[in-house]
Amino acid sequence: MIIFKTIKGINNFLDKYRKEEKIIGYVPTMGALHAGHVSLIENCKGNSDLTVCSIFVNPTQFNDQNDFDNYPQTIEKDIQLLYETGCDVLFLPSAAELYPANEILESYQLGFLETILEGKYRPGHFQGVCQVVNRLLKIVKPHRLFMGQKDYQQCMVISKLLELTNSTVHLIICPTVREESGLAKSSRNVRLSETDNSKATIIYQALLFAKDHISSIPILEIESKMKADLLRNGFDTIDYIAFCDAGSLTPITAYSSKDNVIVLIAATIKNVRLIDNLILN
Ligand code: PAF
Repeated sequence: MIIFKTIKGINNFLDKYRKEEKIIGYVPTMGALHAGHVSLIENCKGNSDLTVCSIFVNPTQFNDQNDFDNYPQTIEKDIQLLYETGCDVLFLPSAAELYPANEILESYQLGFLETILEGKYRPGHFQGVCQVVNRLLKIVKPHRLFMGQKDYQQCMVISKLLELTNSTVHLIICPTVREESGLAKSSRNVRLSETDNSKATIIYQALLFAKDHISSIPILEIESKMKADLLRNGFDTIDYIAFCDAGSLTPITAYSSKDNVIVLIAATIKNVRLIDNLILN
């Protein structure tokens, strides 16, 4: 695996592959890598000639300085894991490399998508995600981009970004990887104590409850049972439990078998905010 820290360095290297018309696959990350990232890299390897990963903890997507300061950083372990997974190239830029001083940050017309769910609870978050992903895409110029379904709304935002920028990059959304208990793999899980990690599995159980009962119980009743279960199992706050159309993320209040429904959750246990989702039909 070759590591590049500068745009010039990675560009010179990738140009050779571009000229040979090799398929470049790309997995952007913020590090603290886990089995979910490994699965993205493996998907990328299986569908590209060259696998590029980046690690950059992007300051512009954090609306909470405390969250940014506490974001886990495990760079030595990450490099080892990427090497073992067979990643070809790691891009490890500094903030100054990606955000040169005095450069104005772009803003994107994301519309409805950034007013709901994560967009509502983390104002400015998706602008920050688009700022960094667009910069990274301009540098890596991949053919294929691999992202995880756990961040479902982020995938939709990136799809919108690709549309807004007339990009030809093909976005491939990979399934959520879970611990044996069902808890979705997340970089934030390392901040959970053993007890809270086991309590947090209620999120997946609640999602499964929704899947099992969507056609037999009214959505409002399912939602209040899920809320009660989360709170009883140690969650301190629930930002949302939302039943939405999976294609547009517009809320759904009554189920019809023709709907393609996704349920999304964001909830906090001992200052660790977790998100997850499940497509119900
Ligand atoms: O999902 C993430 O890890 C980040 O939001 C991303 C896409 C790498 C942008 O910083």
